[in-house]
Amino acid sequence: MVQLRKWRPLLKLDDDTRLASYRKIAEGLVSAILEGRLPPGTLLPGTREMAQLLDVNRKTVILAYEEAMTKGWLVSEPRRGTFVNVQLAPKPLPCPAQPSFAPLLLDQPVVPYFTHNAQVVALQHRHGALFFDNGTSDHRLLPQAVLHRYYRHALRNSFASNTVRYGSEGTGYQLRCALAEMLRNNRGLTVTADNICLTQGTQMSLYLSASLLIKPGDVVLVERLSYPPAWEIFRRLGAQVVTVDIDDEGCRTDQIDRLCREHTVRLIYLTPHHQFPTTVSLHVARRQHLLALAAQHDFCVIEEDYDHEYHFSGRPYLPLASDRAQRHVIYVGSLSKVLGSTFRCSYIVAPTQVIEALQRNAALMLGDADAVAQTMLADLINDGELKKHLRRVSKEYRARRTVLRDCLDQAFGERIQVREPEGGLALWVRFEDGMDVDRLVHTALDHGLVVRSGRQFSPDDQPQNALRLGFASLNRDELYQATQRLAQAMNAMGTR
Ligand SMILES: Cc1ncc(COP(=O)(O)O)c(C=O)c1O
Repeated sequence: MVQLRKWRPLLKLDDDTRLASYRKIAEGLVSAILEGRLPPGTLLPGTREMAQLLDVNRKTVILAYEEAMTKGWLVSEPRRGTFVNVQLAPKPLPCPAQPSFAPLLLDQPVVPYFTHNAQVVALQHRHGALFFDNGTSDHRLLPQAVLHRYYRHALRNSFASNTVRYGSEGTGYQLRCALAEMLRNNRGLTVTADNICLTQGTQMSLYLSASLLIKPGDVVLVERLSYPPAWEIFRRLGAQVVTVDIDDEGCRTDQIDRLCREHTVRLIYLTPHHQFPTTVSLHVARRQHLLALAAQHDFCVIEEDYDHEYHFSGRPYLPLASDRAQRHVIYVGSLSKVLGSTFRCSYIVAPTQVIEALQRNAALMLGDADAVAQTMLADLINDGELKKHLRRVSKEYRARRTVLRDCLDQAFGERIQVREPEGGLALWVRFEDGMDVDRLVHTALDHGLVVRSGRQFSPDDQPQNALRLGFASLNRDELYQATQRLAQAMNAMGTR
């Protein structure tokens, strides 16, 4: 199908009045071919359409095409049309010159977490490649018919009411109300819509919160292994990132106490429900100790509760933010683990004064949000659809966790240690000492498997003999295949 609209800007016609029109068109076509704007094989519009488009007589276009054909630039194929000759060597479009501000770009640090090597990028497009992700949900299990219905309804209402305006936050308010009710009922947070700021993802929530709190030189604590986007943000804002150890009960609050005596600590970032990446839940006594330390040393806690919904052993822990006496916690959540990462919806929960400041900054960064998606999400929460979906997938994810454990046991036996986490969508798998996990991850690529090395979660870039293996986005057969590929990679390294 030839898109006519694109031809006007493509054909730059000479305005020399002495030149015959057909010659101008023929030369315009040749220049477009020479400059790479019309690659070999491009189908040209029919002569009648081109004549209409250029507002010339059809005969003029026929002459122009013939002129270009006799010189070999175009070829005509019976019943198919006129094409740019495929035998011409393709001409790359010239690169634009370097911008004058290029030196500034050199100062921008590379964030390894977001930088994939060529092999990973190639695998992302290869059919049959498998990914052990950080623990994301399976988009194939989303209730598509329900989502279609709710999206259609939101779209229809949005257009019919004609109330969406730049700068008006109508649908955001509905979603904040729905989230506030959900957080009051399920997570014990004493909040209303005024305590919630909506963002387009956890990273944006972390960036906004951190930029409100951190000044260059401030000390920020993160766990020895932690979510890379978080500490990359803190560093980008000029913070000095200091690490705290983690053990089987979560982060070592005794060390936080010591660090608070050595430094003025501004902020600590934690994922206490299911520690990222090690999956450990923070022990109750340590939760209390942490809140007491925050009050004593007056530091802020950013509590990221990225997968609160999936807790398989007993009742989930209530967030630190649910403690009514505390005044130091900013709580960050997301709908991504339930609805997948397609609908970008994260939320920050904090006292109203903080929320007002965050919203002002969010508006600067984002302007307006997607009103239709917001309405749909609010309706899904209010009508209990989110809960229904969660109940259904939780059973499946729990079963997948068992499948992965069994596959790992069969493939690696004593060579690995896996501690059963209380919840979340990933396992933290430790390999025997001496195992070169970085090499294993690299070798796995040759077997069509992508997995992040544990080292990527270390703010100090320390090698780890462990991997975080998300089990929810792979079905049972894929889990088996992925584990086999990991085992094959280990075999290929000669360590078996
Ligand atoms: C710890 C953690 N936080 C946040 C996210 C992403 O959340 P969002 O989709 O809201 O950006 C992930 C994704 O895997 C994660 O592992």
